[in-house]
Amino acid sequence: MLMVNANNLIALINGNYVNSPAMKERVKSGYDGAFSDHITRYDELAGEFQKKSAVAQLSGIDLRDKEIIDIGCGTGVISLLALEMGAKKAVCGDISASMLELAGKNSKAAGIDPGRLSFCQLDAESLPYADNSFDAVITGMSFGLFPDQKKAVDEMFRVLKPGGLISLGAHGPEHYWEAIDTTIRSLSKRYVIGYRFEFWPRTEKQIIKMMKNAGFRDVCTSRYIWRNLFGTPASACDFFAAVSSNWWYARIPERKRQGEYRKAVLLFEKRGIRQVTDDVIVGYGKKPGSLVARDIH
Ligand SMILES: C[S@@+](CC[C@H](N)C(=O)[O-])C[C@H]1O[C@@H](n2cnc3c(N)ncnc32)[C@H](O)[C@@H]1O
Repeated sequence: MLMVNANNLIALINGNYVNSPAMKERVKSGYDGAFSDHITRYDELAGEFQKKSAVAQLSGIDLRDKEIIDIGCGTGVISLLALEMGAKKAVCGDISASMLELAGKNSKAAGIDPGRLSFCQLDAESLPYADNSFDAVITGMSFGLFPDQKKAVDEMFRVLKPGGLISLGAHGPEHYWEAIDTTIRSLSKRYVIGYRFEFWPRTEKQIIKMMKNAGFRDVCTSRYIWRNLFGTPASACDFFAAVSSNWWYARIPERKRQGEYRKAVLLFEKRGIRQVTDDVIVGYGKKPGSLVARDIH
């Protein structure tokens, strides 16, 4: 992680760290498949692990009859689960059109009534919804990709109805550390040096503070750590490429991307990396006030 932090320090000095539009564009392009085709196999390579996290994140919250928004929905893992758990309607929102397309296919395959699930291309930092629109706001495995997290939490608060629930899944300090460290070490430094590695460690204390500052009440957190073991180092590397979309390949010329990816696989193999840790911190809270009777059908 030393390398990631050193790079972020250089990015801070040269101004790249605060260049949010550039970061968003890299992330969006990555999830749109610009840097690697792993993303087209997101569910095959990462779906099982994302689902495990979604189940933990939603366990213990009552979504029955609620209208929810799932921000950074990806292929729709959380939205589909929320509907299964009795949510009345869901908005699946994501910055990437390709991810929304995959989510649409998944919802069709699951036979979801189109009246219950809608799709919206959006930026978490500026949600295209009026104040007090939803009974619950959920975001899972995406928060670390939003450059201005304070803005994103403020937006979640704004669109939530008084008395509404938030379930915010963030990335803890150990999240994917084996894969991040190995991937970053394998890359030719000239392509990545001095630009921001969107890296996400957040502690429970930081998440609680961020949520309270936005105005949420009854804030608490749960932390889930899974040590996922893959059959081979190459499959661990493929998982990470799919789930993260390889957005840090943005500066690598297209003709060199395959070569850089092979270097990553080789280093995973040399180091024998078959384990990739999931470290998920979920913050729960409520917007002050109470849902009025007409909101509960
Ligand atoms: C690792 S995937 C997680 C997807 C899904 N929630 C899951 O659990 O599988 C991260 C998702 O966040 C989306 N994303 C990244 N930045 C975003 C932003 N600023 N606004 C909305 N979505 C964003 C990406 O396009 C991607 O689909």
